[in-house]
Amino acid sequence: MRHIDATQTPLWSLVSGLNLLLSQDIDDDAVCCAVVAKRLRRALRADWLPPEARRSADDTYQRHLLYEDEAGRFSVGSFVWKPGQATPVHDHTGWGVVGVVDGELVSENFAPDPEGRLAQTSVVALKPGATTWLFPAAGDIHRIVNPSTRNTAISIHVYGAPFAAVCRNRYGLETNMAPAAALPSAADGIRAAPARSLSRG
Ligand SMILES: [Fe+2]
Repeated sequence: MRHIDATQTPLWSLVSGLNLLLSQDIDDDAVCCAVVAKRLRRALRADWLPPEARRSADDTYQRHLLYEDEAGRFSVGSFVWKPGQATPVHDHTGWGVVGVVDGELVSENFAPDPEGRLAQTSVVALKPGATTWLFPAAGDIHRIVNPSTRNTAISIHVYGAPFAAVCRNRYGLETNMAPAAALPSAADGIRAAPARSLSRG
């Protein structure tokens, strides 16, 4: 089984930077996300991603675990989106930062209207090299879409939680804002690329 040699890739720099950042116990998610995004932008290249981390599927977008912090403070994964594939509308219950490697993605953001129904509040188009982030205090109900009819997209996501604990709730747009159901856990659907643990530093 092939392993990502994290010491020879931008993943090493990213993880090292995240270890340093999170050791500072930053309690402001906005600040944390902005710093994570800056570090993530340096890693937004496809050349270091192994083939298994770029694998797509016809039925739904694919999530591949790249790195899991041993202390559970953060995780890093690659997402692969065939044309038209999208997440459900969902939230995370924690901060998350998304960066695009290849192709283009759209982040659609939602918030409850005065009647409690979800309404779209913004749409963010993301080209290669671009990042966006979400955290609960700012409202983090969203959907990610590959709007292309021809091109596969690849993104790298950093979450402030273990990979299996991300994507807590999904929402139906035609119902009130109560979560419709829990999204699948890692054990249900994540196809993990072999990850190599790094010592904290
Ligand atoms: Fe998300």
